[in-house]
Amino acid sequence: MKDFYITTAIDYANGQPHIGHAYEKVLTDAIARYRRMRGDTVHFLTGLDEHGQKVQQSAAREGITPQALCDRMAGIYQELCERLDISHDDYIRTTEPRHKAVVQLLLQRLFDKGEIYKGEYTGFYSQRAEQFLQDKDKVDGKWPEVFGEVVEVSETNYFFKLAQYQEWLIGFLKENPDFIVPAFRQKQVLEFLKDDLSDLSISRPRTRLEWGIPLPFDPDCVTYVWFDALINYISAIGYGTPDFERRWPVDYHVIGKDIMVPAHAIYWLIMLKACDIPLPKHMLVHGFWMSSGLKISKSSGNVIKPLDYMGDFGADPLRYFFLREMAVGQDADFSHDRFMSRYNADLGNDLGNLLSRVLNMGERYFASRIPAPSVNEEPEQHVINGWNEAAALVVGAFDRFEFSVGLEALFGFFKSLNRYAEIRAPWKLAKSEDPKDRALLETSIAVMAEGIRLGASLLRPVMPSTVDRIECHLGVPEPLTNAKLAEVPVWSFEMSGQQHGDKVILFPRPDPKAE
Ligand code: ME8
Ligand code: MG
Repeated sequence: MKDFYITTAIDYANGQPHIGHAYEKVLTDAIARYRRMRGDTVHFLTGLDEHGQKVQQSAAREGITPQALCDRMAGIYQELCERLDISHDDYIRTTEPRHKAVVQLLLQRLFDKGEIYKGEYTGFYSQRAEQFLQDKDKVDGKWPEVFGEVVEVSETNYFFKLAQYQEWLIGFLKENPDFIVPAFRQKQVLEFLKDDLSDLSISRPRTRLEWGIPLPFDPDCVTYVWFDALINYISAIGYGTPDFERRWPVDYHVIGKDIMVPAHAIYWLIMLKACDIPLPKHMLVHGFWMSSGLKISKSSGNVIKPLDYMGDFGADPLRYFFLREMAVGQDADFSHDRFMSRYNADLGNDLGNLLSRVLNMGERYFASRIPAPSVNEEPEQHVINGWNEAAALVVGAFDRFEFSVGLEALFGFFKSLNRYAEIRAPWKLAKSEDPKDRALLETSIAVMAEGIRLGASLLRPVMPSTVDRIECHLGVPEPLTNAKLAEVPVWSFEMSGQQHGDKVILFPRPDPKAE
């Protein structure tokens, strides 16, 4: 059977990782983990985009080789993945021989087919954006600030015959209306395609750009940005090998909205078509993290460093925040206050305290054994029905990558367990000698423990190490594994009689002095 193949964009090696990079990896990781839980064989690729003028220049400024700079940046980005608990199966770097070989192979194929031609190019070039600009990029007759310094250059370049595929691409997108998730993004691509496409300059003279992959048919030129970077998605899975056959076409390319048009939805699709390679199944396009209304980016200077948050809290609270707070496809604001309020309210109160309560009372009243239930009245039925509804909602939402919707339902369920605890008030029942109260006490602890066990099982793709800790302390005998999640996990009280572990504070309040 075909693997579920999912990719992130590959990050530019010329900047430090920020919240946007961290988010994209966490989103993709949650999908990958979820699909594994559902029984798929997943192949999850991420990596680093290492060529280009900016890398060459930064290295020159530091007096080191571009390769040395890339090696250092690869270390930094890979550490980010590790700290974020990203479960990628492969990490591609565009300076690797396996990548360069496929780029050159495809360039040669397209050249032989007459899809690439040599031409003279004169135009305005933005180094910051690493792209040639067109008149329509001007705002009020001027180049907008985002492009930085814009200079006129004239050079011999190779061009890829992009324009001839315009009608084909429009037809493809119209026939596949669910190609891009969320759907409104696909409309933006079609909107973009209302203007005529021009052929794409794919090379730069080596005299201007040293740090790139040489064209196989003209070693005085190197490939340029997208023709290099996009091919990572197939070079990494061994284009032309059985691995490739098992994985391609990719199920989802996960990317940010800034690289949807023209890069992924135009260039990449046309490149594949021209190479006779099947097209991706889908693209999942996310929005931007903003800070007080501004995009978080190295050029805005408002970078929030993900590692700062993980230092204090570990990966899971940040993972939760990302997925709870951003509706996939929309922009969202990252602020310390929002983060702390999710941390304290959702994680600390709704989940952390719930587990502490159960473990505390289990230890005090039942010698750390989960009791068996014997009462099934309205409050119990309310919780159990609530679980069935929440679980179906969570699974449905996760299936559609709507993690914020799913997490809202899941934490709504944890809240309902807390309300149940208030209604039954086991700490009061424990003081009574009445056998009916004893039965209620046993039942209430059993209900809360089962609720946490089930709720945690669906939280796993988002907060994997927290769920490990919950299951360990709760003494879950057999964690809900892959096969079991083929269906919505059902209420079963299977922990009754089970020994549980020590008390734990999952989400300690941060030291106010350190704030
Ligand atoms: O674009 N919020 O690399 P990159 C959310 N190398 N996502 C953000 C973001 C923000 N504030 N800022 C950036 C590149 N991103 C190319 C990709 S793929 C073949 C080559 C996302 O380091 C951005 O949208 O600038 C992109 O998906 C990813 O981070 C890497 O951005
Ligand atoms: Mg960028």
